[in-house]
Amino acid sequence: MITNRDTGTRIDEIAAGIFRISTPVSAIPGGFTYNQYLLVDEEPLLFHTGPRRMFPLVRGAIETVLPIERLRHVSFSHYEADECGALNEFLATAPHAAPLCGFVAAVVSVTDIADRPPRVMADGESVSLGRHAVRWFDTPHLPHAWECGFLFEETTRTLLCGDLFTQGGAEHPPLTGADILDSSEAFRKQMDYYSHTRNAPGMIERLAATGPRTLACMHGAAWEGDGAGLLRALGARLDQG
Ligand SMILES: [Fe+2]
Ligand SMILES: [Fe+2]
Repeated sequence: MITNRDTGTRIDEIAAGIFRISTPVSAIPGGFTYNQYLLVDEEPLLFHTGPRRMFPLVRGAIETVLPIERLRHVSFSHYEADECGALNEFLATAPHAAPLCGFVAAVVSVTDIADRPPRVMADGESVSLGRHAVRWFDTPHLPHAWECGFLFEETTRTLLCGDLFTQGGAEHPPLTGADILDSSEAFRKQMDYYSHTRNAPGMIERLAATGPRTLACMHGAAWEGDGAGLLRALGARLDQG
């Protein structure tokens, strides 16, 4: 469903109670998208805020599903503007919300920058939202940023996989079963955004072992299928450089 005709911002349910909010942008040649994911539950969670200037668009999309004041958790993979630039705008608008992040993000940035203290998740820790439960995985430098990590939603087996499988272009279906590996690898070759950490194989295997059915990508389409297989295929490509 389109929620803003001028920008093309839209919101779509991609798994039970998990909504993808997506806005096309022209900042990168060939077009690009910024996605946020809203988990609707007793304690609603937003994964990624979008850049600060996009706050009205993301807010407008959320409010087609629930009142923004109900948000309880504002989480993100790592500390960059597209991941958490509007964090304080959300904290100001949702009085019961707090940042939810890993230890490194909290210590290095969020404790200082955010207007309310974060709830810090240890590696492997799970938090119940009501019907859903999210587990945090530390993935330092995969694909980039020391504080990087991902959330895995256990009941729908959805991996909120941040910048992994980033696809260029501004027009994508909300959810696809078609291949996203080739297009994301083409984008990686164009915009080398990976750190090339030597620890990638172990971290990718750990994510694959969760057996995700849906990969909630931050840029491009979300994907459904054999997530473990696709993660291992990514790992094999990374091995090749
Ligand atoms: Fe990033
Ligand atoms: Fe990103």
